[in-house]
Amino acid sequence: MSETMEMATSSQQMERTAQSEGTPRILIIDDESAIRESLDTLLTLEGFTVSMAGDGTAGLELVSRNEYDLLLLDLALPGESGIDLLPRITAIQPNLPVIMITAYGTMGNVVDAIRAGAENFVQKPWDNEKLLADIRTAIARHRAEEEVVQLKRTLKQRYNFENIVGKSDPMLRLFDVVAQIAPSRSTVLLQGESGTGKELIAKAIHANSPRRDKPFVAVNTGAVPSELLESTLFGHVKGAFTSAISAKKGLFEVANGGTLFLDEIGTMGMDMQAKILRVLQDRRFMHLGGVSEIQVDVRIVAATNVNLQEAVREGKFREDLFYRLNVICLELPPLRARREDIPLLASHFLRFYAEENGTEPRSLSPEALRILMDYEWPGNVRELENAMERGVVLSTSSTITPNLLPPQLTGSTYSSSLLDHKPDASLFDLMEEIERRIISDRLERCHSNQTEAAEYFKIPLSTLNQKIKRLNIEVKKRGRD
Ligand SMILES: Nc1ncnc2c1ncn2[C@@H]1O[C@H](COP(=O)(O)OP(=O)(O)OP(=O)(O)O)[C@@H](O)[C@H]1O
Ligand SMILES: [Mg+2]
Repeated sequence: MSETMEMATSSQQMERTAQSEGTPRILIIDDESAIRESLDTLLTLEGFTVSMAGDGTAGLELVSRNEYDLLLLDLALPGESGIDLLPRITAIQPNLPVIMITAYGTMGNVVDAIRAGAENFVQKPWDNEKLLADIRTAIARHRAEEEVVQLKRTLKQRYNFENIVGKSDPMLRLFDVVAQIAPSRSTVLLQGESGTGKELIAKAIHANSPRRDKPFVAVNTGAVPSELLESTLFGHVKGAFTSAISAKKGLFEVANGGTLFLDEIGTMGMDMQAKILRVLQDRRFMHLGGVSEIQVDVRIVAATNVNLQEAVREGKFREDLFYRLNVICLELPPLRARREDIPLLASHFLRFYAEENGTEPRSLSPEALRILMDYEWPGNVRELENAMERGVVLSTSSTITPNLLPPQLTGSTYSSSLLDHKPDASLFDLMEEIERRIISDRLERCHSNQTEAAEYFKIPLSTLNQKIKRLNIEVKKRGRD
């Protein structure tokens, strides 16, 4: 309990004066001093900074003077009820998460409170652990959302990027390079695994260039068969081939003045590669079946998820074309190499899909977030986006728990595949096998760093060593790190 508490005269307002930066700040508005004090003790011990008010007027005053991370609001305040007060408070601090404190048997009012924007409610007498967990979830969600909003604002102001999220070093470096190269006409090659955001960056390059008011045209050069791709890109004259019943413009012409995005360029056939090379050299080409050359002003952005240099070595990609494309090469890092972007992206997609589905905002439970942080994300940002969309659609409450995550994330494979393979094993053997797999898997992820693995499992290093010996786990030699 604090000694720094001071009584405010007219409005029963009590505020802790020694507020530390960074620790979450919670405001309690409740007319019962016993409730305020027991919440104060609980929350202070857990490291929160607590402010308190005994009625709505005092509460409003505090909200207008300070920023809070969470409000615990009594539903049954004397005079103006908590429900009436709520909109006045959120008018001052719109995204403040609010947990209602209710007496037993006032469920009808709780529904009204949730409708009025309360995030959750706690019933007296409350369970401390559950209350703390709810508070932490609400604060974490609030902070993540604020961070996303802030970050998007910065990215929008600084780079004019729409809907791109990232705060990891490699992404910030990438944003800088994109902003720097966007205004030129130089050809850009985007390399990165599937789902890392190549098309998004291609669009950002276009949107930040003087060409932004001209077309951005995307073509998947890997998916269109060669014969078709040629007429798609260069157009054709009437009668150029049997089905050419009328003349048609090609995408190089459609994109004139703007940007042509050649996606999946790594899987384009050799014959097309030769034809593309010619256009890249002088921006001139002919319609299929045509006789005169056409000149266009098109910026080329190409993307590939295969390593083009390797493809060149294997003779699958023309070296001269590679050098034409590789004027400015940007690497999009896989999501597993920039894990600090995961909570941001998750929050960004949760908000997006909640809006799109007309549902309330959703947040991840701490356990669900931990699973996202641990997963390898072979499908990168797209896989995360799909997982969040699925979570929003399947969830019936405001929290997304691990059971709402796709099965490949929750690793249910441990037990199910094991039972199929070892039908006669005893429970003890199965448990050992599961333990063995979990430990091996973790060691692999930690590059055989046993200290890191022991910390992850929250066990002493010596215990981990014993388990490794007992379970006969092979520890790979650590490379130089
Ligand atoms: N940094 C990011 N911020 C927000 N959304 C992102 C980000 N990166 C990717 N996305 C989203 O993830 C999805 C996949 O991105 P995109 O289509 O650009 O990837 P890609 O690299 O072109 O994938 P592929 O190689 O499979 O075509 C898109 O819906 C995109 O909006
Ligand atoms: Mg793509």
